Amino acid sequence: MRSMSSILIKGVQVAGKGEGKEKDIYIEGNLIEEIAEAGKGRISEAEFVLQGHGKVAIPGLFNAHTHAAMTLLRGYADDMPLHEWLSNKIWPVEARLTEEDVYWGTKLACLEMIKSGTIFFNDMYWHFRGIARAVTESGLRAALSGVFIDGFDEAQAKEQMQINERLYHESKGLSDRIIFVLGPHALYTVSEESLCWVRDFAERHDLLVHIHLSETEEEVKSCVGRYGMRPVEYLDSIGFLSPRTIAAHCVHVSSRELALLKQHETKIVHTPASNMKLAAGRMPYEQMKEAGLYRNIALGTDGCASNNNLDMFEEMKIASLFHKAFINPTVMPAEEAFELATVNAARMFRLNSGVIEVGKLADIVLLDLKNVALIPNHNLISNIVYAASGSCVDTVICDGKILMSGRKVEGEEEIKEKARTVAYRLVNGS
Ligand code: NI
Repeated sequence: MRSMSSILIKGVQVAGKGEGKEKDIYIEGNLIEEIAEAGKGRISEAEFVLQGHGKVAIPGLFNAHTHAAMTLLRGYADDMPLHEWLSNKIWPVEARLTEEDVYWGTKLACLEMIKSGTIFFNDMYWHFRGIARAVTESGLRAALSGVFIDGFDEAQAKEQMQINERLYHESKGLSDRIIFVLGPHALYTVSEESLCWVRDFAERHDLLVHIHLSETEEEVKSCVGRYGMRPVEYLDSIGFLSPRTIAAHCVHVSSRELALLKQHETKIVHTPASNMKLAAGRMPYEQMKEAGLYRNIALGTDGCASNNNLDMFEEMKIASLFHKAFINPTVMPAEEAFELATVNAARMFRLNSGVIEVGKLADIVLLDLKNVALIPNHNLISNIVYAASGSCVDTVICDGKILMSGRKVEGEEEIKEKARTVAYRLVNGS
């Protein structure tokens, strides 16, 4: 739904546009209508006026790989080997999840994202309807997919296809802020028959496809064992890869696989904190850049059980430091980390967002320049990536609506209380 309200942000600095100079940003409906020198614009009144003095406007951040409702499992099981962690801790709890649980877990995630300046997330989780309801209420943008897992079972495959077809049709009635995406979980949980169905359905309806790909060495080995090819080679062989494919992780990819990803202009989501925490390995970022894939890469936090928060400021810093630690300090400079969390991701999800310009969607975050982490401000992007955290965010506007102002979000206390109750009940199994 398009809001026809208007917002004027007065006297705010705009990242990348003559820093230090104050501007007025006028938003009408969900678009940025005018950016002018402070006090010099055509428009000087609006329904909502925000004082921008002492603040800087940056594009809202994008989290390109999440399992949002896993906020409920934050800190529940850490420091364990991946398989043991999944089998003994995560999956048994997930088996008990109801739609209402996922709704509250996603509400908590949306609250955390708003409070840390994220305006979009790309999710894959159970109980699609609960997630969609939480996103609709939150005011955020999201690409939502159910988890498509068939466990190589024909009956389950058929059921998953029917469910996804139904959700696709249902999703047309959802908010414009929600993009319906197909979410085949991974090569080790989804059969070839289902992957081919996803490929055809996505092509027919021009849908994005969100998949976990080459996260661990074991995954690569199991794929070679099953199909005689590495994961990317296999997906290429069945015609699965396209510019609409969004592959999370891509840690273990050969140079031949990088060439295939480039050939199909496949998109990649880097999840550095999760990969480090689960010791999955380090994505070959420099080789990806050499292969011409830079513009195809975005950043994601993964679920809160393996991160353990959704703060994209932290994720930008971790991404940059991860690669520097192993290569040299010039790898992934601050500007690149920032692009991965903004423009690159907006392109990936086909959204007219990710930068602050006239004609773009009004997805704007205001940082408080009085926050101690932002003083002094020699270089804003450096401060954003290396010094800031989500707590520097003062105001969040998404799709032309104010979701947070002065760090206050409507309904915050109720969300925290309900999510806490749901989380304890889930984990205690009662
Ligand atoms: Ni994941």
